[in-house]
Amino acid sequence: FSAFLTDGFGRKHSYLRMSLTEKCNLRCQYCMPEEGVKLTPRGQLLSTSEVLTLARLFVREGVDKIRLTGGEPLIRPDVLDIIRLEFRGQKPSVSLHLCASPSPSCPPPAELRKLEGLKTIAATTNGMNLAKLLPQLREAGLDLINISLDSLVPAKFEFIVRRKGTGNRTQELLAGPCKFQRAALSPDRQGGALGGFHKVMEGIDKAVEIGYNPVKINCVVMRGLNEDELLDFVALTETRPLDVRFIEYMPFDGNKWNFKKMVSYQEMLDRIRQQWPDLQMLEAAHADTAKAFKVPGFKGQLGFITSMSEHFCGSCNRLRITADGNLKVCLFGNSEVSLRDVLRSGASDEELLQVIGAAVGRKKKQHAGTPQDPLRPLRMFSISQMKNRPM
Ligand code: GTP
Ligand code: 5AD
Ligand code: SF4
Repeated sequence: FSAFLTDGFGRKHSYLRMSLTEKCNLRCQYCMPEEGVKLTPRGQLLSTSEVLTLARLFVREGVDKIRLTGGEPLIRPDVLDIIRLEFRGQKPSVSLHLCASPSPSCPPPAELRKLEGLKTIAATTNGMNLAKLLPQLREAGLDLINISLDSLVPAKFEFIVRRKGTGNRTQELLAGPCKFQRAALSPDRQGGALGGFHKVMEGIDKAVEIGYNPVKINCVVMRGLNEDELLDFVALTETRPLDVRFIEYMPFDGNKWNFKKMVSYQEMLDRIRQQWPDLQMLEAAHADTAKAFKVPGFKGQLGFITSMSEHFCGSCNRLRITADGNLKVCLFGNSEVSLRDVLRSGASDEELLQVIGAAVGRKKKQHAGTPQDPLRPLRMFSISQMKNRPM
């Protein structure tokens, strides 16, 4: 494994998260300000070929999993081409200018056609465009999908994502013994204009139908907002191969986080155990962000992403590249280095690797503080008393 991707604590970074865009068609309260974020001018974002070049380099050095993220990655027009070209060596649907004197018939260089060593291509999406893109994503070679969904109540969904009309639904969906589950999974809701909530649900259904297994659902749990839906989310795993992950609410720049709004892993677990006392803990996969559980007999599983109460920095294997080409070695770290600038200066692979290796070498043992307050030593301290509570 490459020394450039190994840090001072021996962590091997084999998982690269590439943000394809800063844009998003939603404005989730925990993520973005209502007015959106200031967008980087287009020319400063990584082009398709720059994304490909960086992916190729990282894979050559040992990355075996790439996750496409955003903003919302599925709104980037070339997302299918990026997956196809970069990762599966199939023919692009549009011609891409990858050589010095491009012409429409100019094929991409052979080495970009296939990335040996890349085992998994994943995406994290809000699901709004998923249903319509799924067959093409599958055909292009996408292996794994994580879908964000924070409420099973359409009106609340609309409130959380701050987009009018996303909670629309037809009257019949209100009926039925378990309305949340009906709304989520019943095929009879097809037809009629669907709001965003139903589009996401349709995306989840389709992902399952098409054979993605598991389909991961990311649910950020916020006090007073969706904490009352924990059991309904768990119930979704009864008949479907879903992996519902409850995420502790994290502080990000301007997201109005405060400690009281966060529902801890232990609290969630206690509440779920009251309903399902025989909940089983599953063995943890290496470097997984989630602690996994299963209700015996249920088809799917659930998990908790405990970034706040029990960090998992010790086994971190992740690096990130922002849409404008900055390498970030830690989600919580504020130091970034521009790979785009190095690329555009005409640097060789070796020179790029030196820059990458130096950044990875500076990676800290664990994250200290929040993006708002990076120097505050360990925000985790204030909540670490939760760490050793009995399970
Ligand atoms: P898998 O590849 O399926 O394990 O996905 P993932 O959980 O790594 O990625 P996803 O994009 O679905 O992110 C879900 C949540 O994981 C995010 O909301 C974060 O809370 C958390 N997460 C992802 N990457 C990191 C990281 O590098 N550090 C920390 N602390 N949390 C992360
Ligand atoms: N806290 C926890 N998770 C968050 N996500 C976005 N913002 C936050 C936050 N403040 C999650 C989204 C998405 C994943 C990539 O990150 O739910 O699924
Ligand atoms: Fe942020 Fe994702 Fe919500 Fe968009 S869908 S606002 S990127 S969490």
